[in-house]
Amino acid sequence: GDTISVKDLAMKMNKSAGELIKKLMGLGVMATINQEVDVETAEILANEFGFEVDIKVDESTYDFIEEIEDDPADLVPRPCVVTVMGHVDHGKTSLLDAIRESNVTASEAGGITQHIGAYQVVHDGKKITFLDTPGHEAFTAMRARGAQVTDIAILVVAADDGVMPQTVEAINHSKAAEVPIIVAINKIDKPDARPERVMQELTEHGLVPEEWGGDTICVPVSAKTREGLENLLEMILLVAEVQELKANPKRLAKGTVIEAELDKGRGPVATVLVQTGTLKIGDSIVAGTAYGKVRAMIDDKGRRVKKAGPSTPVEVLGLSDVPQAGDIFHAVKDDKTAKTISEKRLAKKREEELKATTKVSLDDLFKQI
Ligand code: GTP
Ligand code: MG
Repeated sequence: GDTISVKDLAMKMNKSAGELIKKLMGLGVMATINQEVDVETAEILANEFGFEVDIKVDESTYDFIEEIEDDPADLVPRPCVVTVMGHVDHGKTSLLDAIRESNVTASEAGGITQHIGAYQVVHDGKKITFLDTPGHEAFTAMRARGAQVTDIAILVVAADDGVMPQTVEAINHSKAAEVPIIVAINKIDKPDARPERVMQELTEHGLVPEEWGGDTICVPVSAKTREGLENLLEMILLVAEVQELKANPKRLAKGTVIEAELDKGRGPVATVLVQTGTLKIGDSIVAGTAYGKVRAMIDDKGRRVKKAGPSTPVEVLGLSDVPQAGDIFHAVKDDKTAKTISEKRLAKKREEELKATTKVSLDDLFKQI
């Protein structure tokens, strides 16, 4: 991802590096003058000094697509999309696995071993879509393309380790994207777990627990013993309910590529999150510069499906090429349209690569009000 040094950022804002370093400390980031900070941190820092950061949207992703206006009458409730973030080894994947296993019905059990980046569970009759951390770079790439995939961020903090650098990064990412955070204080089964200390550290980063008069929901959990998982799911549904999430299932599908790879036997395979509309077998799609016709779709349980509605993660087969994580995909009216859009984008991409000056750098991201 893009970064900028504290020194350069200070220069752009006509501030001293010392002032920035002090503010960064306030945000829980220990930095030196030559340290590189990521886009989200730079954005928060700039905002603190009254500057606005203009994250450039990579236009080529949207190019040549006519956006569809939804009739409000067509909007219906959709499941919330939750991203799990946190410091390395704090238990993100374990937590997701535990939630998933607890929600696998007896008939499905045993069949599920594969790890995919996205899946859905049902709690209290309501669906929740989970995304494993797409990695900060993919997250930033998605934002740079104007894609907002997450409705709620689960911040996993190990109770025996506390708030660590990537915890702070995750907090900053979520704040910059204006996504509500629910904290899962994990590993409470461990003898050296100190949940209170975690809450204290969170407070220092502006996340004041509800118990202490703030508005941050903190749920103590253990991915190992599964304690607190029910509670976590309930809190997710509570926060989602307030958001009144809606989408139009009747239109052509649009969403984001979560991950993609070239499979030896199956060709390009993309895990996508359908965000609005319904994706169907046979649909013509474009994803970044890749295009194709949906040949098959496989859901998170490994079943072949014929269609996928809003907030559904699904594997898509039939693309010409491997798209990038963070690419937006659109279903379009026919093959010819998909092919034409892809060709136009490729031509434009080549042209831009030739110019070589179009590379988005953080230097371009800042503008003074
Ligand atoms: P990365 O993806 O590498 O960033 O790690 P992660 O956050 O996904 O952590 P992961 O789920 O891989 O867990 C890291 C280690 O912590 C593993 O050895 C887990 O078994 C252990 N662990 C995770 N959750 C718990 C828990 O609730 N209790 C205990 N005792 N151990 C846990
Ligand atoms: Mg993991």
